[in-house]
Amino acid sequence: MNKDKQAGANMIKMTDIRKVYNTGSVKFEALRGIDVDIKDNEMVAIVGPSGSGKSTLMNLIGCLDTPSAGEYHLQDRRVEKLSPNQLAEVRNRDVGFVFQAFNLLPYSTAYENVELPLLFAGANNKERKSRVTELLNRVGLGDKMANKPTEMSGGEMQRTAIARALANNPRLILADEPTGNLDTKSGKEIIKIFHELWKAGHTVVLITHDMSIAGDCQRVIKLKDGLIDNGNGNGNKMV
Ligand SMILES: Nc1ncnc2c1ncn2[C@@H]1O[C@H](COP(=O)(O)OP(=O)(O)O)[C@@H](O)[C@H]1O
Ligand SMILES: [Mg+2]
Repeated sequence: MNKDKQAGANMIKMTDIRKVYNTGSVKFEALRGIDVDIKDNEMVAIVGPSGSGKSTLMNLIGCLDTPSAGEYHLQDRRVEKLSPNQLAEVRNRDVGFVFQAFNLLPYSTAYENVELPLLFAGANNKERKSRVTELLNRVGLGDKMANKPTEMSGGEMQRTAIARALANNPRLILADEPTGNLDTKSGKEIIKIFHELWKAGHTVVLITHDMSIAGDCQRVIKLKDGLIDNGNGNGNKMV
């Protein structure tokens, strides 16, 4: 893998980010003050034990949720200052999500699943058709466009989900344990697609439990108990 690729502009810059979940009267601090700095066109893995805050961090990065404290700049825009409409637009246009459980619409075809973000973005029929076809071909599903998730393997569902994440050509691709529900072979094929996306210029951030997948990324961020674990036990700063 090309780990020496030079990264440039800021993609993600988080300072002293905290996230508190309130469940009834119980407060739980899932992120306890972390700094994350990811440049444009980096490929970064997030690892850590179950419950360490990885998905919480990913959801904040992708603006699916908001931090309880701290500052977050996404492509140099201060996320806390964006209106709900602006945030929805960021989620639709600037970020592509891939989840462990695929999160496809079960009664819609691969084509329709990939088309959905384009409909939200207001693309016309012709644009949608050419983009969906291009994307499904790109992930190797040119012959499965009419299949519904029930008619696909796990690997095919995840490739559909990747095509959907790419619909509006976001620079940032986020994947939360994208191979967690896949056999080893399909998982490798999926990871290969993420590497291709990185080479094509996207910024890729993926959560994984698989150390060989993490090791093939340019950089690994380790979380432990809601803090970044830099191995020397002294808190939250990355090396
Ligand atoms: N919506 C929520 N409400 C309350 N607690 C939550 C919520 N989401 C996550 N948590 C808690 O926050 C901690 C971190 O969760 P999560 O970010 O999902 O960890 P990971 O992805 O590393 O397994 C866990 O203890 C989890 O129980
Ligand atoms: Mg998780």
